[in-house]
This record gives sequence, structure tokens and C-alpha cells, in this order.
Amino acid sequence: MAAKKVAGKKAPRAGKKAAKACAVPVSKETFVTIYVMGRGYHVPAEATIMGAIEYAGYQIKRGAGCREGYCGACATIYRLPGDYKIYTGLACTTMVQEGMWLAQIPAHPSHKPVYDLDKLTPDVATIQRLYPEVFRCVACNTCTKACPQDLEVMDYIQAAKRGDIEALMDISFDCLACGLCAIRCPAEIVQMNVGLLGKRLYGKYLAPKSAHLEKRLREMRKGKFDKEYKKLMTADKKTLTKIYYERDMES
Ligand code: SF4
Ligand code: SF4
Ligand code: FES
Repeated sequence: MAAKKVAGKKAPRAGKKAAKACAVPVSKETFVTIYVMGRGYHVPAEATIMGAIEYAGYQIKRGAGCREGYCGACATIYRLPGDYKIYTGLACTTMVQEGMWLAQIPAHPSHKPVYDLDKLTPDVATIQRLYPEVFRCVACNTCTKACPQDLEVMDYIQAAKRGDIEALMDISFDCLACGLCAIRCPAEIVQMNVGLLGKRLYGKYLAPKSAHLEKRLREMRKGKFDKEYKKLMTADKKTLTKIYYERDMES
């Protein structure tokens, strides 16, 4: 079924008048009215923002990937009627709300210095050299409020300032790189890239070595699994499907 466009309705502005303006006749049980770039649509109340935009007839060519809240491609900002705040969320996991006003956001700036990981040291000197803007952080916590992963973003930036690479890695670990923190930061810090540097430094210099991984790599280099690889690479789809579903799985 195609989305029902709300004829001639402009998106509401913030404030009490706006709240009234969005009171268009809808089936309250199943539909809400949202506004996509200024145009109103009746969409299922149970839809995610992404589902509702597609229901309204738009084809999302960019800004969508996993559709499951993992890839961070669908960073979205929106407003609600009568509310001055800018809200943030992932379009694939955030549900629509009555009067929600959606707009596209342009790509955010992403300061990303090029570095050779082999030549870095896991300490504050590296942070100072690659991301000096980190030290402009004014501790406003806006980044934390913007994060759809509920990460303590400001805390990992503070860890970066202290040169605490382990805490930087740990606190930023579940970052999706959606960029919503970066578009709100008054200090122009691109938090996700700082977190990524922390993870790389930790993995390269600080993480305990895994003896069984080293052993397995040695086995691979000696060709222990070459025969098995060859068998997989030449198998047809039916055989691969059988192997896949019969594989050992951790319970
Ligand atoms: S830390 Fe920033 S980039 Fe990472 S998930 Fe949270 S808002 Fe997105
Ligand atoms: S938004 Fe920017 S300035 Fe504010 S706490 Fe986060 S990193 Fe610091
Ligand atoms: S499409 Fe991947 S997080 Fe939304």
C-alpha cells in the first residue's frame, strides 16, 4: 500500500502552534503523521524511521547498510512538535512518533590523519600529535547525549586526554562510527576516529598476546589448512550450504 500524503500540509514549526498544526485526522491506532523534508505522510505507528521513509515512497540509496543497528550508516536527526531540542538516532532502530520532522543531514566533517601504526607510541604524545583538538574539549557532554549506543563519549575523550589508551579503547569499543557525536561537538572533535586510534594502539601495543592465535597462525603459514581451503573454494553451492549448516557451533 502506498503512503497517504497529507495534502498541502507543511511541517510544523516548534512551539504550541506547531503541535496543533500536526493534529491531522489519522487512524490513531495504527498511523502517525511524520514530515519528510517538509512534506507530511501518514505512516504506520509501528514503523522505524527507515521503514516509514520507504513506506512514504522514498528509495534510500545512501545512509542505509545493515538495517539492524550495527553499521552506523543511518545517523538521523529529528525534531518533535513543541520541542526545541534536536534529537538523534539510528533510522533503522528508532521508531516514528507523531509529528516527527525528519531532514537529511549533510556528511559531517571527519578529521582523520594518516599515520603509520608501526611508528606510533601508545601514549598521550600520540594523541597530542594526531588529534590536538581533543584538548579543546569543554566537557559539555553533548556527544554523550547524542550517542545512539549510549556510550560515555565524553569519558573516552577524557581518557584520550590523559593518554589512557586502555580506557579509550574500552569505553569506545561499541562505537558504530555513525558520527552523531561529531556533528554536535562545539570543539570540532571527531570522537569516533579518536576511539578508533585507541583501539588500534591497544591492539598493537598493549593487548596481551594470544598464544593459541599465534599457534594457529603458524599452522596456517605452514599450509596445514591448504587442502581444506582448496576444497571449499571449488565446492558448489549445495555442498557449501551443507557444510555451513553442519559446522561445529559454540553453544
Ligand atoms: S560514539 Fe559517536 S560515532 Fe560512535 S556510536 Fe556514539 S555517537 Fe556514533
Ligand atoms: S561534545 Fe565535544 S566538547 Fe562537548 S564533551 Fe563531547 S567531546 Fe567534549
Ligand atoms: S542501517 Fe546500519 S545502523 Fe542503521
